[in-house]
Amino acid sequence: MVQEMRFEMNPFSLQKHNHTFVKCALCFVLMGLAVRLWFYDSIRFSSAVDSVETPPEGKTESLAPEEQKAESLEDSLPIQTPVSVDFPGNDNQTSQKDSAKCDIFTGDWIPDPSGPVYTNESCHAIENHQNCMRNGRPDSEYLYWRWNPRDCQLPRFNPERFLDLMRNKSWAFIGDSISRNHVQSLLCILSQVEEAVEVYHDEEYRSKRWHFPSHNFTLSVIWTPFLIEADVFEDINGVSSSDIMLHLDKLDKNWTEQYKSFDYVVIAGGKWFLKTAIYYVNDTVMGCHYCPGRNLTELGFEFAYRKALQLILNFVTGSDHKAFVFLRTTTPDHFENGEWFSGGTCKRMVPFKEGEIDMRDIDRIMRDIELEEFEKVVADAGTERGVILKLLDTTHLSLLRPDGHPGPYRQFQPFAEDKNATVQNDCLHWCLPGPIDSWNDLVMEMLVNG
Ligand SMILES: *[C@@H]1O[C@H](CO)[C@@H](O)[C@H](O)[C@H]1NC(C)=O
Ligand SMILES: *[C@@H]1O[C@H](CO)[C@@H](O)[C@H](O)[C@H]1NC(C)=O
Ligand SMILES: *[C@@H]1O[C@H](CO)[C@@H](O)[C@H](O)[C@H]1NC(C)=O
Ligand SMILES: *[C@@H]1O[C@H](CO)[C@@H](O)[C@H](O)[C@H]1NC(C)=O
Ligand SMILES: *[C@@H]1O[C@H](CO)[C@@H](O)[C@H](O)[C@H]1NC(C)=O
Ligand SMILES: *[C@@H]1O[C@H](CO)[C@@H](O)[C@H](O)[C@H]1NC(C)=O
Ligand SMILES: *[C@@H]1O[C@H](CO)[C@@H](O)[C@H](O)[C@H]1NC(C)=O
Ligand SMILES: *[C@@H]1O[C@H](CO)[C@@H](O)[C@H](O)[C@H]1NC(C)=O
Repeated sequence: MVQEMRFEMNPFSLQKHNHTFVKCALCFVLMGLAVRLWFYDSIRFSSAVDSVETPPEGKTESLAPEEQKAESLEDSLPIQTPVSVDFPGNDNQTSQKDSAKCDIFTGDWIPDPSGPVYTNESCHAIENHQNCMRNGRPDSEYLYWRWNPRDCQLPRFNPERFLDLMRNKSWAFIGDSISRNHVQSLLCILSQVEEAVEVYHDEEYRSKRWHFPSHNFTLSVIWTPFLIEADVFEDINGVSSSDIMLHLDKLDKNWTEQYKSFDYVVIAGGKWFLKTAIYYVNDTVMGCHYCPGRNLTELGFEFAYRKALQLILNFVTGSDHKAFVFLRTTTPDHFENGEWFSGGTCKRMVPFKEGEIDMRDIDRIMRDIELEEFEKVVADAGTERGVILKLLDTTHLSLLRPDGHPGPYRQFQPFAEDKNATVQNDCLHWCLPGPIDSWNDLVMEMLVNG
């Protein structure tokens, strides 16, 4: 079993149900490094690591890839790629009744010969690092699966219907680079009906906003990896000159100040909390997570993550702004035979079946915190104020998709020059198209039938 293999190969892995703090600390400092690499803005990482990337189609790639993409997205003509899309049972009352009692997060991945609704050709919103098709990933079986809940049918995302529902509305994805991965999937699906126009990006192309003119729909992604106030001291390569200062009693204004302009939000956090950080409450140091030599109380990332989620969820349920809020659960990685820094790879080409893989302890801990804090606010505050709060529990179904990551194909044609090249693998973000598209099928289902 994979989990066992991982325990053999990786001395830093946690023992199940039996971890001590020392082991945690050791593990988490390494996780912290991993996170620094993978969750750091991919532009910066790319400039440091991907300098050998060959420009496709003779384009100049001296610009940061995202900068270039942003331009091409704005400049490109709307392209309607003919794709056959069917929406089984989409407007079917029976299907709606089924879904009411159906746990859409429990099920299997089943073969789906119809394949993805978009490609690297039809969608221009795919970030280079997740554009597995363009980058030369040779296998394509990973594209032909769909998530099949055990007790009901999950219709495919219906972009016409979605955009009709979203007329004059505004939607935001709030979180880290996985949220950006998610928004790109949505942009690609929607581009079959209408091409988005990019109307805003921040200096670093991490927060963006798009407008769908004929539906007057606004879609945003907001970069706020901790969701709470954080002072991060990282240079262009993601190397920190000083430890992160996390204020556990203050939300990041970068999203809260815009919150009232959104009708729908998908909030997600997690992995950045594994980094070394000093924890502050009321501007006073309270302790830290993995800070040897600092003579501070080790509070553990769990402490900070729980506090942050409490703050976020209380803000959302206590706000007089009535939004439809999804809290997305943590996303698992699939590094095998090592971690990202020790040659870890993800070479599997088919999904796991139920029982073939166990969730890693870090993901289990994070998801448990998410579930507990979600249940608390739902039980306490309820939704009587008009706020709709839903759990988008994608952790388990994503865990079953080790085949959905870029692996070495985060770079363009990584083996073009040297078949045996040693290439950094990405076993955390998701290929586009890829399994993350099903997250949007789930969002649609929750929106329509939830
Ligand atoms: C709705 O579902 C029922 C039962 O599954 C089926 O008989 C019917 O044909 C479906 N209707 C549509 C419009 O798909
Ligand atoms: C899309 O991917 C294919 C390989 O699957 C490649 O030949 C083609 O150039 C790519 N197109 C774009 C626009 O990236
Ligand atoms: C959208 O806004 C316009 C202008 O305010 C209004 O005329 C139209 O009825 C609105 N449409 C919907 C579906 O709310
Ligand atoms: C677009 O939607 C906004 C609300 O999000 C509304 O204020 C505005 O009037 C709409 N514009 C048009 C042209 O419908
Ligand atoms: C908020 O945005 C500003 C400007 O974009 C940035 O400098 C700051 O680091 C952000 N805060 C967090 C917590 O990400
Ligand atoms: C926060 O700190 C200020 C002084 O720095 C103090 O006056 C105040 O009582 C503190 N508040 C709490 C809740 O501890
Ligand atoms: C660590 O902190 C404690 C309490 O703040 C203090 O008593 C102790 O002297 C400190 N130790 C070192 C080595 O600074
Ligand atoms: C790649 O490795 C194989 C065996 O490990 C070797 O036979 C082959 O010569 C290598 N190719 C190159 C281009 O280095």
